[in-house]
Amino acid sequence: MRHIGAREVRARTSCGHNGGMSDSPSPLADPHLVFDPVSGEDPRDIVILGSTGSIGTQAIDLVLRNPDRFRVTALSAAGGRVGLLAEQARRLRVRTVAVAREDAVPALREALRGQYEAGEPLPEILAGPDAATQLAASDCHTVLNGITGSIGLAPTLAALEAGRTLALANKESLIVGGPLVKAVAKPGQIIPVDSEHAALFQALAAGTRADVRRLVVTASGGPFRGRTKADLADVTPEDALAHPTWAMGPVITVNSATLVNKGLEVIEAHLLYDIPFDRIEVVVHPQSYVHSMVEFTDGSTLAQATPPDMRGPIAIGIGWPERVPDAAPAFDWTKASSWEFHPLDNDAFPSVGLARHVGELAGTAPAVFNAANEECVDAFLKGELPFNGIMETVTRTVEEHVPAAAPGTALTVADVLEAETWARARARELAAKTTAEARA
Ligand SMILES: NC(=O)c1ccc[n+]([C@@H]2O[C@H](COP(=O)([O-])OP(=O)(O)OC[C@H]3O[C@@H](n4cnc5c(N)ncnc54)[C@H](OP(=O)(O)O)[C@@H]3O)[C@@H](O)[C@H]2O)c1
Repeated sequence: MRHIGAREVRARTSCGHNGGMSDSPSPLADPHLVFDPVSGEDPRDIVILGSTGSIGTQAIDLVLRNPDRFRVTALSAAGGRVGLLAEQARRLRVRTVAVAREDAVPALREALRGQYEAGEPLPEILAGPDAATQLAASDCHTVLNGITGSIGLAPTLAALEAGRTLALANKESLIVGGPLVKAVAKPGQIIPVDSEHAALFQALAAGTRADVRRLVVTASGGPFRGRTKADLADVTPEDALAHPTWAMGPVITVNSATLVNKGLEVIEAHLLYDIPFDRIEVVVHPQSYVHSMVEFTDGSTLAQATPPDMRGPIAIGIGWPERVPDAAPAFDWTKASSWEFHPLDNDAFPSVGLARHVGELAGTAPAVFNAANEECVDAFLKGELPFNGIMETVTRTVEEHVPAAAPGTALTVADVLEAETWARARARELAAKTTAEARA
């Protein structure tokens, strides 16, 4: 597909329809539009935020296998795995490496010296809490945001404001800052990397917005599928981290066990595709083969399916509108397989219902939900909170939250930060109380 000049947005012409643009303003993510920030000759320059994590390392695997298509110009991480970061920097020959933790710089410099030949210039090092945000605005075609947590909001906004295409794995930034992201993003500027949203993106390409009846988001059900609330009382962090189909970072893995991740994804789907909550369904599909579906008004449902492997959606994120050959393995249709679909057990897993509620409330409610959950996951992983205590604490924190801004007033970054700070502190207090009560 031909690329066009700077900061233009165009409708894809190959689909033979109106690209869904005639009836209402474009949603945040729209497969019919191509946002092309620079006159795009290959290889495409990519900045990877969160390069040492699950998304980051899989993105690097894709880039290394496709040097004619992608070139990584900069990497960022928190600073916990400097050896890996230095190795990535050397293999990819990046210009800049960033770490959030300033105290990680000496070890990073040492690790880089160990990787580079004597006399070879080392990449520039940026350090500090704003380092990833600085990189997000640096010169490149696409920023892949693979940071975990709402800390990813500032880099998301910076990449959008700087006119980069944003391959968004960091769903938290959209959830906590939905209106802020909407205010700065140009149509087509965000390409979703979450597998469900990448699936919806691909299925949505088959019709116009007016043709869409509902979105169906699939959930593996996590390691505790089929258990009752009572069964979940004594599960351990080790049990929760044993995801049946996906290998991911610890936060999203625990979020998959509570199904908070699915709740976040329902809000994410609403924000990305501008579909009301009552037209977004969740269905449990244990095999994780179908990554989500779009039901059209004629009764036809289009599903996007691959064996579970995040390199597929990452390739959509950094390569769109082109597909990357052999990004991930395909199905072997000569082998028999069964694909099941079950309704969600909202009693054992109340998180999706609560997420819908905070999504409807909008404003700072999703930020409170997410921040309280991040604190509770941390406490659970440290053995300080029982599994069911995560949702109990998040629910109470959400119930107690009083939005600072009046309904209808524009959300600011300060509102989000204030709500998050309150939610984290309140969730920690409530979690400590739950633990003390359980031990009494
Ligand atoms: N993993 C998946 O399959 C998957 C699927 C769908 C969506 N997602 C989403 O993708 C995001 C990343 O998930 P993940 O599983 O890849 O997480 P992960 O394995 O825990 O990796 C997180 C990455 O973020 C870095 N990081 C943390 N704080 C940072 C900061 N302040 N500045 C810069 N970098 C920072 C970490 O660096 P250190 O190594 O130095 O700690 C690490 O590189 C999450 O939002 C998740 O929900 C992931």
